[in-house]
Amino acid sequence: MILNTELEYKGNLFPSKIIKYEKNLNVLSFTAENGVILEITVRRDSVLRFRFTTTGIFENDFSYAITKYASRGYNHLEVTEDKDHYIITTAKLICHISKLDLRSSIYDAVDKTLICEDELGFHWEESYEFGGDVVKMSKTAQPGESYYGLGDKPVDNNLKGKRFENWVTDSYAYGRDTDPIYKTIPFYTALHNKKSYGIFFDNTFRSFFDFCSERRNITSFWAHGGEMNYYFIYGPEMSEVVANYTDLTGKPHEMPALWVLGYHQCKWSYYPESNVKEITSKFRELKIPCDAIYLDIDYMEGFRCFTWSKEYFPDPKRMVKELADDGFKTIVIIDPGIKIDMEYSVFKEGLDKDYFCKRADGPYMKGKVWPGECYFPDFTRPEVREWWSDLFKELIEDIGVKGVWNDMNEPAVMDVPGKSFPDDVRHDYEGNPCSHRKAHNVYGMQMARATYQGLKKFSYPKRPFVITRAAYSGTQRYTSSWTGDNVASWDHLTIANLQAQRMCMSGFSFIGSDIGGFAEQPNGELYARWIQLGIFHPFCRTHSSGDHGDQEPWAFGDTITDVVRKFIELRYQLLPYLYTAFWRYADEGIPILKSLVLYDQEDTQTHYRNDEFIFGEKILACPVTGPNQKGRRMYIPRGKWYNFWTDEVVKGGQEHWVDADLDSMPIFVKEGAIIPKYPIQQYVGEKAINELLLDVYYKLGKESSMVFEDAGDGYDYIKGRYSQRDFKLQGKKDELIIQQHKSGKYITTYKTFKLKLHGLPFKISKIEVDNVEIPFKVLKINGDNTLVVTKDFTELHIMA
Ligand code: GLC
Repeated sequence: MILNTELEYKGNLFPSKIIKYEKNLNVLSFTAENGVILEITVRRDSVLRFRFTTTGIFENDFSYAITKYASRGYNHLEVTEDKDHYIITTAKLICHISKLDLRSSIYDAVDKTLICEDELGFHWEESYEFGGDVVKMSKTAQPGESYYGLGDKPVDNNLKGKRFENWVTDSYAYGRDTDPIYKTIPFYTALHNKKSYGIFFDNTFRSFFDFCSERRNITSFWAHGGEMNYYFIYGPEMSEVVANYTDLTGKPHEMPALWVLGYHQCKWSYYPESNVKEITSKFRELKIPCDAIYLDIDYMEGFRCFTWSKEYFPDPKRMVKELADDGFKTIVIIDPGIKIDMEYSVFKEGLDKDYFCKRADGPYMKGKVWPGECYFPDFTRPEVREWWSDLFKELIEDIGVKGVWNDMNEPAVMDVPGKSFPDDVRHDYEGNPCSHRKAHNVYGMQMARATYQGLKKFSYPKRPFVITRAAYSGTQRYTSSWTGDNVASWDHLTIANLQAQRMCMSGFSFIGSDIGGFAEQPNGELYARWIQLGIFHPFCRTHSSGDHGDQEPWAFGDTITDVVRKFIELRYQLLPYLYTAFWRYADEGIPILKSLVLYDQEDTQTHYRNDEFIFGEKILACPVTGPNQKGRRMYIPRGKWYNFWTDEVVKGGQEHWVDADLDSMPIFVKEGAIIPKYPIQQYVGEKAINELLLDVYYKLGKESSMVFEDAGDGYDYIKGRYSQRDFKLQGKKDELIIQQHKSGKYITTYKTFKLKLHGLPFKISKIEVDNVEIPFKVLKINGDNTLVVTKDFTELHIMA
């Protein structure tokens, strides 16, 4: 018998020359002599999928990331060849495939400039330990290229010069540069020569990205298994790249209820019931708006999911109702670990139905989390998700809970080296059985999906609300998210800002941080500055570990309470503006926050900016991120901007000093903007909206704005019962014209707009509504340039 103990190590392997080419509609396949096949799918004129196999046979084509609703179709597709290449031409791209080695070069079809080019291109190493390959790709970095995206990485916006790992990880008190952390979004956007493209590497194994870190001019990515399977997405506008990636991996399946965009208060943990009530009453007493209150793990009986502690919450249904009567929605936490306990029905049922994950050789996957030893549902199995979704019936339908917070779903396991399952755990993966190496990064996503299904079912006809900590690309279809266990430090305020911008640029806009920091204790100043940033994040929640003291808006003395109230009130005023931005995200995939580079990629000044960002389409915000500051320097993007507080007009394209005492922060409004506002409410729905305030910022020239409204909950908007107002503003020296186009069948409760004109350079002498002159008395016009007009006007003409 020969026992060969020496592993044969072949090193990097490469495709050889093409011996066969086939075209099947939009799928082109190139077979190399050594059995490698490259399959290119033309999904759209600007979206090409590249997929390689080294064995001559592709795996079953399945992805959790790609949505079935993704757009398909192209205007043009032609494949030609020259001596050295196959040449694929679409309306937007020209892609050369080298006949020698399958390497690709992609050009802009319009001006023929090079966009992206393989260096070594696809190569691989065989994996002796697990079978299959370590799949690798390297591309030449173009001159001046910079990189953005990758989900929740806690680093500066521009990723150039850095290397990253993607492996969803519970990361208590992570810091700047900690990698990996909670989310895996293997998508980046590159920008060079004013043109932008993106790469989405749809591979769920542990993966890596290197942006000119290992080698100065090379960008590469690789994964510990699976296929080299990536999408090339062309812009040339960065906003198009992000919108197309979002189209591919999905937009939120529905709008959030309007109250979800209000302010949320959380802590680990508010209990017993009397403590919860104390907190909610204080909000109302101090007149600080708040829509949601959270119950962390202590509401349960011994941390058993879907149970209530009889001692702390003897009558949850009554409590939830009383809170609801006061405008508070109750949100509860649900973790994946199910306590091993034969007396516990959820455990018993999961066991009987064989729904828990198992190790390779058969034993259950046992791991310690809050309840002690647990088993974990295999959320990659459709029947398990169905079962899980049904578990929410009582919580939602009967007790009246309005949202569910999924945590520890990396999945986090305590007291083990990898902080998660071992690699050998088996998963169904939608009928494509695999080990945890492949399923790890999607486990949390599938848990959130199952939770979402439950909420959708039992909240109907209201909209569901879910929050998740772990995520893979595509998770944005089901849920919102937060950035995990951050720390109460000034640096973490900056990190929260970066992470929210980065998530928005990674197709996942419904994001926020634990305001004030989860671990440790902020002082009042840090908390106030964090609230100022937080009100501009799509998800706005204070949360803390509770170990270090209180973190409610009133916990730091009256001065801070007043600042916090002022900014939360501003969020409530801006709700229609934020809701409109959310609509653009849900409808078109446009990120709710735009880093300056995404807003104006042509201005190279924006390429390394981190702090300033655009909220929605028209508001520029910049947090103050250090102590004792009376203001800060910041970059104002090109164009003219109004200081939100003073109406002073500043010219962009340069840095400015901006005053911002603790009760203020730098906020600017783009000239020409029309910003809708609601009155301050203590919770969404407290007041009927009797008038919509429109802040109109005069501009010499043209600008368009939009306001989207609907019932604020329910699904009627999908059937056309929404109200979309498109405004066109045109300012001249002695005239201001506003045109309105209304679409949708929803009738808003208010009948009039109150217009507030900012920066009008002339004194009004005459106003026409749809060509009819209206007396000032009717318009209730007054000295501060406000006037009241019917919401149904088509053209408003304001003259000197
Ligand atoms: C995790 C979560 C945190 C939560 C805590 C207790 O640390 O990230 O938000 O409060 O668990 O459930």
